[in-house]
Amino acid sequence: MKFFVDTAEVDQIKELNDLGMVDGVTTNPSLILKSGRDILEVTREIADMVDGPVSAEVVALEADAMIEEGRKLAQIAGNIAVKVPLTWAGLKACKVLSDEGNMVNVTLCFSANQALLAAKAGATFISPFVGRLDDINLDGMELISDIRQIYDNYGYETQILAASIRTVNHACQAALIGADVMTAPPGVIKKMADHPLTDAGLEQFMKDWAKTGQKIV
Ligand code: E4P
Repeated sequence: MKFFVDTAEVDQIKELNDLGMVDGVTTNPSLILKSGRDILEVTREIADMVDGPVSAEVVALEADAMIEEGRKLAQIAGNIAVKVPLTWAGLKACKVLSDEGNMVNVTLCFSANQALLAAKAGATFISPFVGRLDDINLDGMELISDIRQIYDNYGYETQILAASIRTVNHACQAALIGADVMTAPPGVIKKMADHPLTDAGLEQFMKDWAKTGQKIV
């Protein structure tokens, strides 16, 4: 499973990237706001640091304007994935931008039918938002599972990018279902290393080691 980091905070991306944990990065207008940075500047910095796809989102609502913005974002670096919303205009922009050879991430997906349309429009990635479905008492993981089945039924190559991953359970469930990629905030990725039995076991080993009076180096 590929890990994308869902943030525009350069320092946090760098820490995980140095560990080999980063296969790509996703940003959105809210994350750009949170970073306090200029979109073109911060996206360039991230794209220079990371080898994999870096998603940068258009903000226009009409297809032609989305295409114009998408072309500009794609010029930032060779590894930019242009992010467009899953609207009819976004699907039109997806088709044009992907036909031009750009990676396209279709975002704000909340149904299997939307995901089917994105695949037909040539999306490189489809981003179903798990956490936001859970927020309204629906099952985000069921959506990942439905999309996996539909894409496998027909051999669509669009990659399922499980997004709005908020918990370590989300991460594990998405991997079990077979999402190609998950994007999660740095904190969630780091929490995947935690287990209380690891902490307890380590504490016991340290106590026993101290009693041996030995040193390794
Ligand atoms: C992904 O591309 C989105 O930016 C992100 O996962 C949304 O997550 P949120 O619902 O926690 O804001």
